[in-house]
Amino acid sequence: MMVKSAAKYIVLLGPPGAGKGTQAQIISKEMNLAHVSSGDIFRENLKQETELGKLAQTFMRRGELVPDDVTIAMIQERLTRPDCQAGALLDGFPRTPAQAEALSKMLAKWGAEVNLVPYIFVDANILIERLSGRWTCPVCGLVYHEKYNPPITPGICDNDGAVLYQRDDDKPETVKRRIDVYLTQTAPLIEYYRLKGLLVEIDGTLSIDQVAKNILAAIEEKVAN
Ligand code: AP5
Repeated sequence: MMVKSAAKYIVLLGPPGAGKGTQAQIISKEMNLAHVSSGDIFRENLKQETELGKLAQTFMRRGELVPDDVTIAMIQERLTRPDCQAGALLDGFPRTPAQAEALSKMLAKWGAEVNLVPYIFVDANILIERLSGRWTCPVCGLVYHEKYNPPITPGICDNDGAVLYQRDDDKPETVKRRIDVYLTQTAPLIEYYRLKGLLVEIDGTLSIDQVAKNILAAIEEKVAN
């Protein structure tokens, strides 16, 4: 049996466009913790044209959730890789009560648990503007915004010079559906984790740097070393 009792698991919760991916990139580097993004793993599978990628695409293009069983198995496999030995910063998972229960069961088997859930909250009108101005690097995954976090050269990644792209599911009608799906299927996790004493509310409307500082301060205060 794998034992990971000293490992730390932090779950970033929040609506589409709240800044989970942006913050995960900063915080995983600061804490030297693996960044595990369910959306990124699905997009990588899509690029590689795997069966999982083809299945996920049918849901992602409509702004719907990929079924729980497939998603849970994928994350469980990801969390057993060597780079997750010290734990992980989870971005986009769990997203339903069934996923949250499955996560806590798999961590309990390893002698570990979810340590903190920073919930990044942002109003729906801001989310739409954020997602329509988002540009992503296809190579390193860095996320930019044409107004709030622009690359030095428009359309080009600062890190590796790749041409940035806009995600298919950032079209306005798909964004609206993703927000509805979040409100009905994922928002119940706010109370779920609050009742467990793990939730910490983070104002996602502040600057990217300030949000990162607030999340890191909450981790410092509440997660034992
Ligand atoms: P996923 O990739 O997880 O997308 P999401 O949760 O909808 O979140 P986003 O990546 O859109 O937003 P974000 O919060 O990471 O914001 P970001 O940092 O980019 O999921 C995509 C799809 O995959 C789902 O719809 C579903 O089909 C499937 N899926 C994934 N996980 C699943 C699961 N567990 N179960 C089932 N299906 C699943 O920021 C957004 C923009 O805002 C950027 O341009 C950024 O530069 C800017 N920005 C960020 N912070 C700030 C700030 N403080 N001020 C100003 N601008 C900011």
